[in-house]
Amino acid sequence: MPIALVIYHSKSGHTKKMAEAISEGICKTEVSVTLIDVADAKVDDLLNADAIVLGSPTYYGTMAAEMKRFIDDTVKLHGKLQGKIGGAFSSSGMLGGGNETTVMSILEALLIHGMIVHGHSRIAHYGPIAVGDPDTKAIEECSKYGNMIGELILKLAK
Ligand SMILES: Cc1cc2nc3c(=O)[nH]c(=O)nc-3n(C[C@H](O)[C@H](O)[C@H](O)COP(=O)(O)O)c2cc1C
Repeated sequence: MPIALVIYHSKSGHTKKMAEAISEGICKTEVSVTLIDVADAKVDDLLNADAIVLGSPTYYGTMAAEMKRFIDDTVKLHGKLQGKIGGAFSSSGMLGGGNETTVMSILEALLIHGMIVHGHSRIAHYGPIAVGDPDTKAIEECSKYGNMIGELILKLAK
């Protein structure tokens, strides 16, 4: 069964709720999902994954230092993540607070790894975003996004 990793950092739980909803969405497909706090994530775990989805709260318009540290540590795998599926999500404190720039900052790193990123034409285009505690709409979008990632994994595995 293909494997997806959803790795997040979250201090007050908002990004974690998003991570859980994305994982549930992926679970609806025939894909195995592991949800990991970035503090417990091992860079080498990425090697066996078909998809890697990273989430961070927005800190000064970009990802939290904990997620940046993890991404910087992935340099030891540089070239080995090419062709895997990548995704990103973020929770900010306010609308216009930089959640999209945070998603983009994570996606930039994943693209530099040579990963495949799936946008969406109807819901948050770059990846799920939420303001504060994710509301029902944000949770639904996270679940839809997870489902889309799962479907893409299966499509590329054919
Ligand atoms: C150091 C720090 C910097 C932050 N910077 C921003 C920011 O630039 N824009 C914003 O909208 N919210 C900002 N916030 C608020 C968080 O993004 C927001 O509370 C988020 O929902 C926290 O997610 P979490 O519950 O997963 O930790 C900041 C919070 C902290 C602690």
